[in-house]
Amino acid sequence: LFGAIDMAPRDPILGITEAFNADTNPAKINLGVGVYYDDNGKVPLLQCVQKAEAKLMEQPAPRTYLPIEGLAAYDKAVQELVFGADSAVIQEKRAITVQALGGTGALKLGADFLKRFSPNSEVWISDPSWENHRALFESAGFVVNNYTYYDAATHGVNFEGMLAALKDMPQGAIVVLHACCHNPTGADLSQDQWTQVIDAVIAGGLVPFLDMAYQGFGAGIAEDGAVVRRFAEKGIPLLVSNSFSKSFSLYGERAGALSIVATSAEEAARVLSQLKRVIRTNYSNPPTHTAKVVAMVLSTPELRQLWEEELAGMRVRIKEMRNLMVEKLKEKAPGHDFEFVREQVGMFSYSGLTKEQVGKLREQSIYAVDTGRICVAALNSTNLDRVVDAVAKVL
Ligand code: LMR
Repeated sequence: LFGAIDMAPRDPILGITEAFNADTNPAKINLGVGVYYDDNGKVPLLQCVQKAEAKLMEQPAPRTYLPIEGLAAYDKAVQELVFGADSAVIQEKRAITVQALGGTGALKLGADFLKRFSPNSEVWISDPSWENHRALFESAGFVVNNYTYYDAATHGVNFEGMLAALKDMPQGAIVVLHACCHNPTGADLSQDQWTQVIDAVIAGGLVPFLDMAYQGFGAGIAEDGAVVRRFAEKGIPLLVSNSFSKSFSLYGERAGALSIVATSAEEAARVLSQLKRVIRTNYSNPPTHTAKVVAMVLSTPELRQLWEEELAGMRVRIKEMRNLMVEKLKEKAPGHDFEFVREQVGMFSYSGLTKEQVGKLREQSIYAVDTGRICVAALNSTNLDRVVDAVAKVL
């Protein structure tokens, strides 16, 4: 049975962490995976999370099965975060939200659900996109295409190209859009550009699937989530995956959610019933602990405020690292313009380094994605000089 099985290639992102873990150099630096480290190089355990966990431990609870769609308090709190408590989609019960195993789990639920009910649609992802988008939708059975997005010459968005691609898509096409902090490029759309994208999606009868894994790492929680609310106001079918891996620093807990906006409460109820079948046949129902933590933080005013402050702290530190990196590269690599790194948004910089240059960095135990994506959130005041020196050297 297993004799003819080929060795699969390493995952383009998590495979780098595997190589990093196997590296015995104590000075190794992992700029591959999208994980936020503090200035001491540690993944933070947020105070808001610790306080919520302490509160939960005061009354230890049995761990029985959650409902298929997840913890009700979590689904409600997430839905209100995503759409706004007073939004029409919530007031009119047109939105449904289910707990999911991280943002990836939410995408997979959405992909499996869409494959059942729109089997002949094709999926469009940005060029480039998060490495796992293509694999995930293909494994759900879809043909996956790219739409024009990044312009390497300007380090920004080729907006004309993107708009033309949207206008060319057949009706019913599923278009995956990064709500904020585009992964991997860090190049986001302006609100005015979003207006044009929303218009094109509606005019073309496209199905928008917004992926929001980095809310709070761009301009702020409300600002980063604005486009989701703008889409939701339009009364068109909409899917939204979101994740607390980064914004709560809860990577290993797989806390995410899938929200779907339908055109009526009755339609939403039917959608939820079918989504529950997708969940039941994948993993039955989700885990309890972190759903309770996130729900408590989101719905307890003092903890919510603490979370917003802690998230702002992460956001500000990343921006400081961007500025410092640019300043230092100016000195160490004169003749190379890295000003664009300041403009990029979120955890990543699409640095422009080639695969070969990334390979040379790896020889110095500095790990980045082959595409040249580096995680700025893994830079700190101790490792920055070594990274800048190494980058200057490989240039
Ligand atoms: C990333 O892009 O590095 C993160 O989203 C982690 C992952 O699962 O790939």
